[in-house]
Amino acid sequence: MHENLSILLAEDNDVVRRSIADYLLSLGYFVTDARTGVEALGYFRELLPDLIITDLMMPEMGGLEFLKIVKNESELTPFIIVSGEGTMQDVIKGLRLGAWDYLTKPIHPLELLKHSVERALERHRLLHQAREHKEYISDQKKTMKEKEILHAQLLHAHKLESVGQLASGIAHEINTPTQFVSSNVSFLDEAFADVQKMVGTLVNASAEMALTGDVLMQALDTADWPYLETEIPLAIKQSQEGLSRVANLVRAMKEFSHPGGKEMENVDINHLIETTVTVARNEWKYSSEVQFDLAPDLPGTLCLASEIGQVLLNLLVNAAHAITEKLGRTPEGGKGTITIKTEVDGPSILIRISDTGCGIPDFARAKIFDPFFTTKSVGSGTGQGLAIAYDVVTRKHGGTLTFSTVVGEGTTFTITLPIKQKGNC
Ligand SMILES: Nc1ncnc2c1ncn2[C@@H]1O[C@H](COP(=O)(O)OP(=O)(O)OP(=O)(O)O)[C@@H](O)[C@H]1O
Ligand SMILES: [Mg+2]
Repeated sequence: MHENLSILLAEDNDVVRRSIADYLLSLGYFVTDARTGVEALGYFRELLPDLIITDLMMPEMGGLEFLKIVKNESELTPFIIVSGEGTMQDVIKGLRLGAWDYLTKPIHPLELLKHSVERALERHRLLHQAREHKEYISDQKKTMKEKEILHAQLLHAHKLESVGQLASGIAHEINTPTQFVSSNVSFLDEAFADVQKMVGTLVNASAEMALTGDVLMQALDTADWPYLETEIPLAIKQSQEGLSRVANLVRAMKEFSHPGGKEMENVDINHLIETTVTVARNEWKYSSEVQFDLAPDLPGTLCLASEIGQVLLNLLVNAAHAITEKLGRTPEGGKGTITIKTEVDGPSILIRISDTGCGIPDFARAKIFDPFFTTKSVGSGTGQGLAIAYDVVTRKHGGTLTFSTVVGEGTTFTITLPIKQKGNC
């Protein structure tokens, strides 16, 4: 029954060695015997035995020295010390080295050896199992870590992709106000030249003591002052508005594309929604109106702002796509509506994104959260938006993401996020 278990026996006394070896062989173990520590070390390296039984006093290399090397090379190999009389100090050293047992010579009855060997082998087996289990667990942990990294990479790639897509829309959005600010500045340039001329005329007339009412009226008329008087403030106001639109867009884009920390931060969800809708304007404005119904008293909550922003963007873009799908690319019959509503519901914040789009057909409902499930053509969808959204909301924030839909009428996605404040999570 022990044919697979090998024991290395190191003992310089021929009689003792023979008797122990014969006994172990009779028990069914495979035994290799050595007369010196050096010989034993050679066998050990060659055979990697399951157990070592060693004497301490041997020529060339003593048992302790041999065991130290063994310990170094194979930490788990168990060993039993067999010692002669008067070597107690060495036995203690051997035990400190990790010997599993010690027996004194002559071993009598030999059954003592049998028990000792069986115990050592059993403990060894259990230790091996435990170690394998530990390795298995750490492998599991490693795969979880790898999964986590993969998730993060996917999220990041998807985000970069959408930021890239948004960038051309943003450029477009910035272009419009920039153009009218620029034409207003040109107007102000010309207007200033007219005003300058008018002021010059009046100053000269005044210097020549010829500033009469007629001259004044004439100068104002030449400069078309009544027109300038209303148009200049208008141009300034428009330019200010345009510049603040650009500044808003830039700020929103900066906030949105911020990589975000790994730590949860206190986030104003309403503000995050507004930012997301602003950066994604070019994605929805041709097909939809966006209506807000944001609870004014919504509390801040701890979350990963950048990732929740990504979720909102994915849902918003999906809503716009669904409306385009229903109305066609260039809708004659007007636009659809995307409504974003926030409210407090007990311990949670609810965010509802509703669209008046095509709805989700029956066959797709069970699959929409699956990674890479898409009904869109190559290039317009990769099928990752909802999988990422689900992961971010449920796993990372302990929330829920659900939907209700009516084909041909529209869909509502509902996110719940547990309200967390510093100190209560
Ligand atoms: N608001 C919605 N209305 C109708 N169908 C939707 C809506 N949101 C998602 N879907 C359906 O679910 C599928 C999966 O959505 P998901 O956001 O995961 O991927 P995608 O939009 O196709 O691609 P990606 O978001 O990666 O660009 C979509 O292809 C679409 O069929
Ligand atoms: Mg999508």
